[in-house]
Amino acid sequence: MSFDNLLIERDAAVGVITINRPKVLNALNNSTLDELRRAALELKRDEAIRAIVITGSGDKSFVAGADINEFLEQSPASGRDHALAGQHVFDLIENLGKPVIAAVNGYALGGGCELAMACTLRIAANTARFGQPEINLGLVPGYGGTQRLPRLVGKGKAMELILTGSPISAEEAERIGLVNRVVPAAELLTEARRIAGLLAAQAPIATAYIIHAINHGVEMPFAQACAYEATLFGLAFATDDMREGTRAFLEKRKPVFRGK
Ligand code: COA
Repeated sequence: MSFDNLLIERDAAVGVITINRPKVLNALNNSTLDELRRAALELKRDEAIRAIVITGSGDKSFVAGADINEFLEQSPASGRDHALAGQHVFDLIENLGKPVIAAVNGYALGGGCELAMACTLRIAANTARFGQPEINLGLVPGYGGTQRLPRLVGKGKAMELILTGSPISAEEAERIGLVNRVVPAAELLTEARRIAGLLAAQAPIATAYIIHAINHGVEMPFAQACAYEATLFGLAFATDDMREGTRAFLEKRKPVFRGK
């Protein structure tokens, strides 16, 4: 499959997607969003790939938001469709069933911050900046920002970030729980690939169940979510990987998980 605005690399069990529109700081136009959807589906279906890293090309920007050049032509109906299309892609990434790590190498603004939030984990360069500046354009976040941000950092901080539109540093993003870890910019990709490699070595079916349990469970009443967790716990006993993991522990060796 070929892409005009993405670079795709396969490094053993880790797939790396690089959003590659550096002239516009990797802004997401419609075709890039659609390529992201196709790339996510391709890597989801590829059994050899067990974890994914998403980053932006260059050292200035992860993604500087939706492509503002496409905004002036929008009507209320097409604007709504545009938001729904973006939400669909980010929901797909969030629920891919494989860990997706955002390696945030610079600006993560608007749709860039929303893309990072849809990922399973976020590792940021110390030079990264995060924000939802839509309000400065007279707009509202449209790719899930008003919903994922409060779930990650709490309602008060989300209100502040979205209503002021002011970006925050990587250190502040880590302090409020928006990113998992901040590393020196030069080490970002190595560290993101290292963590992706660790997650890729885990049992793939249990990994998918955990992602589903957390993503869906937090939206359910507690008792129902725990019942869902118990079902997934039970289902894991149907896997060869459960037997392999348990035997490996008892035999004091490293397990080799095959995703069966
Ligand atoms: N959509 C389209 N083009 C964008 C863009 C976006 N979201 N973000 C940046 N660009 C373009 C700029 O128009 C500029 O193009 P040009 O070279 O043809 O003039 C190029 O990328 C470089 O950006 P520039 O603004 O010159 O860089 P900067 O270092 O001065 O500022 C930002 C960087 C990220 C602070 C600034 O580009 C910005 O505020 N971008 C918009 C962020 C935003 O509002 N995103 C949410 C959209 S809903």
